Amino acid sequence: MKAWRIENDDGIDALKLTDVDIGDPGPGEVRFRVKASSINRRDFNTVRAPSARDTPLPRIPNSDAAGEVVAVGDGVREFKPGDRVASCFFKRWQGERMRASIMASALGGAEEGMLSEEAILPETALVPLPEHLTWVEAGTLTCAGVTAWNALVEQGGLKAGDTVLVMGTGGVSIFALQLSKIMGARVIATSKSDEKLERARNMGADETINYVDTPNWEKAVLDLTDGEGVDQIVEVGGAGTLQKSIDAVGFGGHIGLIGVLTQGEINPLPLLGKSIRLTGIYVGSREMFRNMNAAISANALKPVIDRTFSFGDARAAFNAMGEDQHFGKIVIVDED
Ligand SMILES: NC(=O)c1ccc[n+]([C@@H]2O[C@H](COP(=O)([O-])OP(=O)(O)OC[C@H]3O[C@@H](n4cnc5c(N)ncnc54)[C@H](OP(=O)(O)O)[C@@H]3O)[C@@H](O)[C@H]2O)c1
Repeated sequence: MKAWRIENDDGIDALKLTDVDIGDPGPGEVRFRVKASSINRRDFNTVRAPSARDTPLPRIPNSDAAGEVVAVGDGVREFKPGDRVASCFFKRWQGERMRASIMASALGGAEEGMLSEEAILPETALVPLPEHLTWVEAGTLTCAGVTAWNALVEQGGLKAGDTVLVMGTGGVSIFALQLSKIMGARVIATSKSDEKLERARNMGADETINYVDTPNWEKAVLDLTDGEGVDQIVEVGGAGTLQKSIDAVGFGGHIGLIGVLTQGEINPLPLLGKSIRLTGIYVGSREMFRNMNAAISANALKPVIDRTFSFGDARAAFNAMGEDQHFGKIVIVDED
C-alpha cells in the first residue's frame, strides 16, 4: 500500500510516496480504500512547515477522506465491506464538549492522515456518505464542510432570514455560502477577485464586495444591512480582519472564528458593547458531521470542486493551493 508522507521541513517537493503496511483492522476498526482526499489550508501549511505545527514525523498528511470499506474488525456494527464512508477530522470526538485528548486526535496532525491508498480508523471516526455525492465531492466534507456547518448552525444557530457574511471563496467559505442558502439565509460574500464574486452570485450570493477594491468592506456591509450589520460572520481571515468583522456584525450577532490567514491587533471592547458572540471553531464532532450530511442529503447540495489531481500527482495539488487562485475545493483522487 502506498502513502504520501511528510518526512522533513523541506516543503511540498519533499513529500514522499512510500510503501506503508497498515495491517488488518483490529476490534472496532474499519479498513477502507481511500478514493478522494481534499486539501485544506491547514494540510498545505502542515506539508510546508510541519515543525511549526509540532507535527510528528514521518506523517501522512490530510484529514479528509471519502472511501469504500474493504474489511471490518470484530465488533464493528455500523459498517460492512462496500459501504461508502468519510473520515471524521478528530479520531475521538463524538459530540461531547471539546477537551485536550480530543484535540490531540486530529487526522493528518497528531494522528496519521488520509493521503494513502487505504487507511484504518475506528468505526466511531467514520460517517456514511450522502448517497448523491461522487467520491470527489464526498472527499471535501471532513474539514471545510463540517467547519462551516459548526460555525453557522451548531454554534451560530442560523435561521431562515438571517444575513451571513462569508469571507473569500476558499473551501470553508464556499461551503458556508452553500449551507447558508439551503438554510434560507441571505448571503453577503467577499473576494479579492471580481470573477470569483460573479461565480459566488451565480451560486446564490445576494450581495458581493471586492475586499481589495473596497478595503473598508465593513462599511459596505453596514450599508447593505441598513446600518444594522449581519447576523453571522464566518471569519476565516483571523487577526487582520477580525476588527472589521466586529464592526460588520450586528448587535447580538455571532462571529465563528475559524481562520488564521492574516495578522493584526484586536480591541475587544466592541465585543462587549455590541453583545457579540465570538466562538472559537475547530472543525466539529462526528455528531455535527452527521447533522450536516442530513442537511446536504435533504437539499441535494453538491460541494464545489475547483480542480482534481491524481494520487500520484499529489505534490501538484498542494502547489495549486499555494497559487491561491482556487474557488472551492482542490481534491486528490484515487478512484481505480
Ligand atoms: N478552525 C478550523 O476548524 C478551521 C477549519 C478549516 C480551515 N480553517 C482556516 O480557515 C482559513 C481558510 O481555510 P480554507 O481551507 O477554506 O482555505 P482556502 O481554501 O485556501 O481559502 C482561502 C481563501 O481565503 C480568502 N482570503 C484570503 N485572505 C483574505 C482576506 N484578507 N479577507 C477575506 N478573504 C480572504 C481567499 O479568497 P479569495 O481568493 O476569494 O479572496 C482565499 O482563497 C485558513 O486560515 C484555515 O487554516 C480553520
